[in-house]
Amino acid sequence: MIDLLDRLSRPFMRALDPEDAHGLAIKALQLMPLPRPIADPRELAVRAFGLNFPNPVGLAAGFDKNAQAPDALLKLGFGFVEVGTVTPRAQAGNPRPRLFRLEADQGVINRLGFNNAGAALVLARLAERAGAGGIVGVNIGANRDSPDRAGDYVRLIETFAMVASYFTVNVSSPNTPGLRDLQEARALDDLLARVIDARERVQPRSGPTPVLLKIAPDLTLSDLDDVVGIARKHRIDGMIVGNTSISRPGTLRERDKAREAGGLSGRPLFKLSTRMLAETFVRAESAFPLIGVGGIDSGPTAIAKIKAGATLVQLYSGLVYRGIGVVGEIKADLVTALKRGHRDSLASMIGSDAADMTAESWPE
Ligand SMILES: Cc1cc2nc3c(=O)[nH]c(=O)nc-3n(C[C@H](O)[C@H](O)[C@H](O)COP(=O)(O)O)c2cc1C
Repeated sequence: MIDLLDRLSRPFMRALDPEDAHGLAIKALQLMPLPRPIADPRELAVRAFGLNFPNPVGLAAGFDKNAQAPDALLKLGFGFVEVGTVTPRAQAGNPRPRLFRLEADQGVINRLGFNNAGAALVLARLAERAGAGGIVGVNIGANRDSPDRAGDYVRLIETFAMVASYFTVNVSSPNTPGLRDLQEARALDDLLARVIDARERVQPRSGPTPVLLKIAPDLTLSDLDDVVGIARKHRIDGMIVGNTSISRPGTLRERDKAREAGGLSGRPLFKLSTRMLAETFVRAESAFPLIGVGGIDSGPTAIAKIKAGATLVQLYSGLVYRGIGVVGEIKADLVTALKRGHRDSLASMIGSDAADMTAESWPE
């Protein structure tokens, strides 16, 4: 039924300005009465970062920035939902238009710039649903005009520890000038030291909240050596690979839109982000699990991420082009792949192609 509604409304939504369509989708999720979801097949269950995920398919950050509909999204079949990016204070983000669909490429470019309602309002919403169950992570970032960006992350850890299933430290958005400099070795070392210290301080009240680091797919491999080394040194619980890209593959067909500033996501990001995932997997040496994100829009693309090293996956742009039905489709394909391989969990697939992938020529 929901799938049908989704299919019927998609042509209409696609005719709207992308940001208006997104606002409408959030409204619909808030208003639509949704049935209890059918339980996921047991073989899709994943344990990672000390959390039990009913299935490995999550909603990536940026769709529900202000935690307006995490429970509706869980009911639609996601195994987990990441809200945010949230900054300490509300901010408007960049001027519109700032969100572009590259229809012919099934890609998206955004330069939203952390538009969000601020920590207080998002905390109130998450506190209200605190007993509802389900895994809801909080993606945190710094205010654009903050004099102490690392301090913003610390404040947000303190603010959300009681209600966050996990934290994502987002240092990889291309749309806040200078933010990605926090991935540079010295800055990252300092940031993660402060973030982990904050997590330890609040732990007696909130319990252990996993902290994940979300990186850009545009890092050089020598940057990645440093980033993974520092993440391991601070015993980060996991990494998300990755955010949108400032690169523009030469294969893009929507040439005019491709010139818009911002981060590219969706199908044109798949190859680069999957290669970076494999590169991260071989460097992490199973010290922590990875979440693979970027261009997932089908069962095969999700399986490729798992084989490149993902324990869990997330998607956003795939929803724009494939609708919510893609989540069920991915889960069904995962079950089929498990049956075909006579496996009872996804664990043995994780990273099985990573080493081979890192030997291939660099994706264009
Ligand atoms: C419109 C839009 C807004 C996004 N906002 C955020 C954000 O606030 N924080 C973040 O960490 N990632 C954000 N992302 C990045 C996604 O979480 C994801 O990493 C990226 O889009 C790649 O996945 P995809 O190809 O499935 O979309 C955003 C992506 C899009 C398309």
